[in-house]
Parts: sequence; structure tokens; C-alpha cells
Amino acid sequence: MSETAELNVGGKTYTLPVIEGTEQERAIDISKLRAESGHVTLDDGYGNTGSCKSNITFIDGEKGILRYRGYSIEELAVRSTFVEVAHLLIWGELPTSAELQRFSNMLTENSMIHEDMKFHFEGFPRRAHPMAILSSMINATSCFYPELLDSNYDTDSLARQAANLLSQVRTIAAFAYRKSRGLPIIYPKLEYKYTANFLHMMFSHPYRDFPLDPEAVRALDLIFLLHADHEQNCSTATVRMVASSKANLFASAAAGVCALWGPLHGGANQAVLEMLEAIHREGDDGSRFIAAAKDKNSGKKLMGFGHRVYKHYDPRAKIIKQACDEVLARLNKSDPLLDIAKKLEEAAMKEDYFVERNLYPNVDFYSGIIMRALGIPVEMFTVIFAIGRMPGWIANFKEVAEDAKGRIYRPRQIYTGKTLRSYVPIKERGQAGS
Ligand code: ACO
Repeated sequence: MSETAELNVGGKTYTLPVIEGTEQERAIDISKLRAESGHVTLDDGYGNTGSCKSNITFIDGEKGILRYRGYSIEELAVRSTFVEVAHLLIWGELPTSAELQRFSNMLTENSMIHEDMKFHFEGFPRRAHPMAILSSMINATSCFYPELLDSNYDTDSLARQAANLLSQVRTIAAFAYRKSRGLPIIYPKLEYKYTANFLHMMFSHPYRDFPLDPEAVRALDLIFLLHADHEQNCSTATVRMVASSKANLFASAAAGVCALWGPLHGGANQAVLEMLEAIHREGDDGSRFIAAAKDKNSGKKLMGFGHRVYKHYDPRAKIIKQACDEVLARLNKSDPLLDIAKKLEEAAMKEDYFVERNLYPNVDFYSGIIMRALGIPVEMFTVIFAIGRMPGWIANFKEVAEDAKGRIYRPRQIYTGKTLRSYVPIKERGQAGS
């Protein structure tokens, strides 16, 4: 007999099913509660709400576990590549060599954006943030490839859309950067692989190719891979929300970019770097900033610290921290910001404030230092995150699109505003605000 939960409310008892995931996560299914009892549940910020069943990514925040389709992030980080992981996330399995070849070929074939899209870049002001350009241009992609917008979402049409989006996001991102610097656009090269091609489009000169350092390519590939999915975070939940209305993949992914941009989410990597630079500039040893971050009235937070789900060290942060040391050593670079970050972490971990609240470094705390070493400007950090997160968004979009019984996402609320009142003609409304 399956487990149930009982809820006593208004003098009545309701029996609610308990469902269990493959990793023994348990949830009380309240989907029929309103129909049966007239009550909804309230969970500000969705901290305790499962919004869907998903078989893509598993996180155990208490133990610091992250797995894509059952594979541990630690093993994938060492043994896999971003493109292989993208295949794993979207199609559910690591590719065979034939599948990988086919997938890579599709990415290569789709790497050029529609030539007319180039004119859109001209319309953005020079100082436009590349995240604004990225979300606009991803949405605009749907205008240029109407033939891709087959709403049946069979395997073939999804494969075409996924390859187009995954490949073009990197071209759009590089073009956005070139535009912001007033530099001529560099086209992708057919012979380069995914991450190498991105660095080529970012940094090559029209008449001289950027010398690709395999260490730099591998480091950026690792960053993409570590960001590839993270279950129902703010941006992925946004993608699913938009997808649930049957909006197309490009519209859903553009919304994901917007959600990712905020400094409490993907924008934190830019905010971390700016915080470290400010600490360096002001000659603070970190203690003043930590004191401010503990003070709720200061308006400051220790950026790159804390996580809704992890109450333990973010496993991605552990990998990135180690990669940071290795990459800087291999590229023969040193960075005072890395020393500041390490000291800041050490100092925070001695403070009751951070320990009691389980605030550990998250993925954004060290990633910016690697990106800085690769020559990527700070305003592009969140764009890099968005490129990396694209396979996860596509996989989640696919899950929603393929769910024949799926309903539009539509949360409830508890209304706390005015109750019914009568309309007041303007001449009777007094002078306030004049
Ligand atoms: N610095 C100082 N205090 C913090 C921080 C921080 N970075 N993070 C959380 N806290 C405090 C909160 O003020 C709260 O204190 P209280 O209990 O005294 O009120 C307590 O820790 C719990 O935090 P919540 O706000 O409940 O955590 P929530 O789950 O809502 O938010 C978040 C998580 C947004 C990541 C938060 O920790 C934060 O703002 N961190 C800094 C921004 C950041 O690094 N974001 C990237 C997250 S990872 C990602 O999106 C890829």
C-alpha cells in the first residue's frame, strides 16, 4: 500500500498521496487539494515546492551531490566535454561515436547565423549589455527560421531546433561582444570544435587567427559543462513556465536568459568579480566587506556565497576552485583577486553568521577568475553562463513539450489587497499627490 499524508483543516481530514522519486526524494502531492478542500498551499519563493517531475538532473543539497542523468558532475568534469554533456542532457544518454559525430556535424552546420540577423546588431547602442543583446537575438532567431517552428516537437524537429539554438547562441554571444567593442565580426570556422570556435569568434583578428591555447579551450569547456544544468533554478523554471504555454524554444530560451541575468542568479559571477575588484581597490583585507555582508542594513551580500538548495559546499565550486589554481598555473598567470577570494572564503568560514546559515561558495565565486585569466571581459561572464546553461534549458523545454498531459504552469496566490470598494469620481478624490 502506498504511503499517504493526512491533512486536517476546517474540521475535515484529507488524505494526500506521497510520491517518491528514484533517489527517494518524497513529496506530498497536493494537486487535488484545492478542488477537494478549497485550500491552496502558500510557499513564498517556491522554497519547498516541487513544480514538476523531471528525469534530467539530480541535486542533493545537504550532501553536495549534483548528477546529470545519473552521472556525477565530478566524473563528467574530468572525463567528458561540453558537447557530449549537451547530448546527454538533451537526449538522455552519452552519445556513441556515431551519434557524437552526427551531433557535432549539426552544430557545425548551424554555427552561422542568418546573414540578415547581422543588421540587428547595428541597432544596439555601443554600451548595451551583452545579456540584453543575447536575449533579444535569441528571440529574433525565431523570425529568421520559421521553418524550424514546428510545434509537433517530434524528435527530428527538436533535434534541428536544439542544434540551431545551441550553436547559434555562441555565435550571437561572440558577435555581441565584438559589437560592444566596435570590432568587426568574425565568422565561425568549420574545422573548429564548439568551444574553440567561440574563442576564435571572440578574439581573432580579421587577418590573423587568435592562437588557441588547448589549456584555455579546455578551461572554458569545463566552465560550460559545469553550468550545463541545475534542475529547477530561477532561469530553468522560467524556461519551463514559458514552454508550458506552448511558446517556441527560442522564446522560452530568451526568457531564460532574462531570468539568468539578475545578480542573485547568473549575474552573480559579474557581481563577484566587481566585489573582488572593489575590495582590492579599497585595500580592504576582506574583513570590512564581510562585516558589511553580515549587516542587513548595509545592502551588501557576499556575492558568490549561499544557495537555495546547497546547504553544503556547491560541488561545482569545489571543481572550479581547483581548476582555478591549475589553469592559472598552466597559463602562467597570477591574479591578486584569486588570493582575495581565497582569503575571503577562509574568513567567512570562520564566522558564525555564514556557518549557521550554511552559506558556502557557489559556482559563481571562482568562475570569474578563470574567465578573467582567459581574457573574457566581466560583462560577458553571465553570457558564458547562458551558453553553458543552454543544453539544460533545451532538455527542460523538451520535457515540457513532450508531456502530452502537461498543463500550462499557473501558480495560485493569496490575495492581500483591498476588498471590494466603489469607484470614486476624480473630483471627489482629494488633493493628495498633486
Ligand atoms: N551574503 C550574506 N548573507 C546571505 C547571503 C550572502 N551571500 N546569502 C544568504 N544570506 C543570508 C540571508 O540574508 C538570510 O539571512 P536571515 O536568515 O538572517 O534572514 C539567510 O542567509 C538565508 O538566505 P536566503 O535569502 O533565505 O537564501 P535564498 O535561498 O532565498 O537565496 C541566494 C539564495 C539568492 C543564492 C542568496 O544566498 C544570495 O543572494 N547569494 C548571493 C548571490 C549569489 O551568489 N547568487 C548566485 C547563486 S548560484 C546561481 O544562481 C548560479
